[in-house]
Amino acid sequence: MGSALDSFISYLRIPLLASSGIAAVLSCALYFKQNEIIYPRHFPPDARTNVPRPSQFGITDYEELMIPTADGESLSAFYLRANKQHARNVTILMFHGNAGNIGHRLPIAKVLVDDIGCNVLLLQYRGYGHSTGSPNEKGIMIDAQTGLDYVRGRSELRGSRIVLYGQSLGGAVAIALAARNLKHGDISGIILENTFTSMRKLIPSALPPARFLAPLCHEIWPSEEILPRITGIPMLFLSGLQDEIVPASHMAQLFKLCRSQPKILREFPNGTHNDTVAEPGYFVYIDSFIAEHVAR
Ligand SMILES: *[C@@H]1O[C@H](CO)[C@@H](O)[C@H](O)[C@H]1NC(C)=O
Ligand SMILES: *[C@@H]1O[C@H](CO)[C@@H](O)[C@H](O)[C@H]1NC(C)=O
Ligand SMILES: *[C@@H]1O[C@H](CO)[C@@H](O)[C@H](O)[C@H]1NC(C)=O
Repeated sequence: MGSALDSFISYLRIPLLASSGIAAVLSCALYFKQNEIIYPRHFPPDARTNVPRPSQFGITDYEELMIPTADGESLSAFYLRANKQHARNVTILMFHGNAGNIGHRLPIAKVLVDDIGCNVLLLQYRGYGHSTGSPNEKGIMIDAQTGLDYVRGRSELRGSRIVLYGQSLGGAVAIALAARNLKHGDISGIILENTFTSMRKLIPSALPPARFLAPLCHEIWPSEEILPRITGIPMLFLSGLQDEIVPASHMAQLFKLCRSQPKILREFPNGTHNDTVAEPGYFVYIDSFIAEHVAR
């Protein structure tokens, strides 16, 4: 697990929202170019064509999928089956951050499958990796719903408990998806890592030169408004206190606003935006969250 995660971390030294070069261009281009900035799906430069595959990480029991959306896009995804020896009858729907592709997150998924015993659906938003289309808030929410409906409809997963797990942008996706599906009552847990209260509130810290333009940002991702509507779902907040892109105060604020019980906040004193996942205890916290609050 250690070395795979290390290679993941070194691969993921990604500009996200923070590069100063991007910030300079941004002042005049925010409105028209913001989707390219908010969703840097071409970083690393080969991220649209080179999607690492599960077999490259020693994962054997998996399927590569193309899942159609209701509005005509086609989403590439990996479905990984839990290690049979300690399978937990839990399926994690993983929502990735705003750069790279699902292949870059396979080392994380491998730990969830091998060590924590969960099935994992790694879904790639439109415009990322081999998925068709281009990303925007409305479209990504269609994608997230498509992924959830796929898990619901897969017969071998009937009765398996569903957990939404979102990192950074993926946290906003998980929150919005859970809120839209409360009536179904079939989401058994939510795990959020280094996500933000809203895209507009993130801009002043992530892109200081653009702070006066934040009101023009048409991608909203209003997690702080949506999160309090969610009740009855156990939630785990994983917060890197050295996060240089999404200040840790965003996670603290979301935790405070959360009305769902139980809610658990785990802080990583040395965790930065990209490497909190490699901090000691990270997967132990996920494992005990699932054992105590999600699994039957
Ligand atoms: C995470 O990404 C940011 C933005 O590119 C970069 O400045 C930082 O060095 C990265 N952090 C780590 C620990 O890789
Ligand atoms: C998962 O749990 C459901 C509901 O309890 C049950 O019907 C199903 O057989 C379980 N599946 C496995 C593989 O244990
Ligand atoms: C954080 O990093 C420092 C310096 O490397 C180390 O001494 C400390 O044990 C780390 N703390 C945690 C909680 O990992």
